[in-house]
Amino acid sequence: MKLVSPSLLSANFGNLQHDIEMLNRSECDWLHVDVMDGVFVPNISFGQPIVKHIKFHAKKPLDVHLMIVDPGRYVADFAEAGADILTVHYEACTHLDRVLHSIRDHGMKAGVVLNPATSVELLEDSVQLCDLVLLMSVNPGFGGQKFIENTYSKVRRLRAICDRKNPQCLIEVDGGVNLQNASALYEAGADVLVAGNAVFKSDDPVLTIHQLKQ
Ligand code: DX5
Ligand code: ZN
Repeated sequence: MKLVSPSLLSANFGNLQHDIEMLNRSECDWLHVDVMDGVFVPNISFGQPIVKHIKFHAKKPLDVHLMIVDPGRYVADFAEAGADILTVHYEACTHLDRVLHSIRDHGMKAGVVLNPATSVELLEDSVQLCDLVLLMSVNPGFGGQKFIENTYSKVRRLRAICDRKNPQCLIEVDGGVNLQNASALYEAGADVLVAGNAVFKSDDPVLTIHQLKQ
């Protein structure tokens, strides 16, 4: 699969409606929504009230990436705000099994996110509870960072684990994705690419989204 999920972290927060309408017209598949609490990551972005407004304008599924401590506490809130896919960090969950069940019980697709230094092999006993796994290809917290090359190896190793344990599970990559590395990521086994700066800082975001899907 070749899906693109543009990250609204790089959109114009002063006029989100304008950028969401552009994404509605584009060939993108999901809208990637980065929630940061200033504790799990150094940056603060936005919370449920903004997600609700994004949902109101969006015509595509919301792919909500929680970069917050103890995300299990907020599963019901983000379901209510309109998340279709909810991903939580492996590093932030003491009881990952419980959180993943809870996400599905609230009617959303469930995903785990791994930081760059967290090994995919740790998912051997949880990947069967996931609709997707998100691999961070930068240290989370900010848009516009440099892609970490070790991600290719992680995608390939995760693909092998998914093939054995949960072939339906999608692999998503987030951070520093651009027109230069997109095709190699799909080739390595990625299904969904998140792109913030590559889309929103380009002269023609609709065209860039089209090119990312090629
Ligand atoms: C980083 C966020 C990403 C970010 C990606 O912590 O999770 O989704 O917006 O931005 P780019 O594509 O610019 O690296
Ligand atoms: Zn993200």
